[in-house]
Amino acid sequence: MIDLSRKCFIVLICITSALAVDLQYSEIVTVNNETRYIVLNPDAALTLFNKNHYVGGQYVFTSGKRITGDRLILNFQDSTQFTKGEDVEALLRYPAKGTDTNIITQVDIYAAVSSEDADSFFVDGGINKSFCEILIAGNKTSYVEFEMFIYGY
Ligand SMILES: *[C@@H]1O[C@H](CO)[C@@H](O)[C@H](O)[C@H]1NC(C)=O
Ligand SMILES: *[C@@H]1O[C@H](CO)[C@@H](O)[C@H](O)[C@H]1NC(C)=O
Ligand SMILES: *[C@@H]1O[C@H](CO)[C@@H](O)[C@H](O)[C@H]1NC(C)=O
Repeated sequence: MIDLSRKCFIVLICITSALAVDLQYSEIVTVNNETRYIVLNPDAALTLFNKNHYVGGQYVFTSGKRITGDRLILNFQDSTQFTKGEDVEALLRYPAKGTDTNIITQVDIYAAVSSEDADSFFVDGGINKSFCEILIAGNKTSYVEFEMFIYGY
C-alpha cells in the first residue's frame, strides 16, 4: 500500500515536470526491427550528434555550438530500467507544437546506458532552427538515463 502511494507520487512528479517544459515526449520505449523509428520513417533525414564516451557507460552527445548571449531554454531528464537488454528509443520534440521564438544554438545530451550501441539524432529541425525533433536510440541496454539541455537565443 505504501509502495503503491509512493509510485503514484513519483508518477505525479514526473507528469508535473513534463508539463513544465514545452516538449512533446514519447517516453523511453522499447523497439524491435519492425517498430524502430528509421523503419517507420524510412524517408527521415537523420543528423547524427557528436558522441563522446566517458567511463562507465556515460556519453555526451552534442550538436551545434554555444554563442555569446545564448542561454539554456530547455532542460529535461528521464530514466528507466529493464530486466534484460532492450533496444530502446526516446523521441522529443521542442517546442511541443509548431515553432518557438528561440533559435537553437546547441543541444547536449548526457546519457548513461549499458551498451556502446547508442546514438542521438535530429530527425527534424535542429541547430539554427526554431524547433527540433530528437531521437535518442540504444540497443541491448538494461537501463537508460539521460538529461538534455537545449541552448538558444
Ligand atoms: C534485427 O535486425 C538486425 C540487423 O538489421 C539483425 O541482426 C537481427 O537479427 C534482427 N533481429 C530480429 C529479432 O529479427
Ligand atoms: C540498433 O540496431 C539497429 C538494427 O540492427 C540499427 O539499425 C541501429 O543502427 C543500431 N543502433 C542504434 C543506436 O539504433
Ligand atoms: C549555424 O549558424 C552558424 C552561424 O551562421 C554557422 O556557423 C553554423 O555552421 C550553422 N550550423 C548549422 C548546423 O546549420
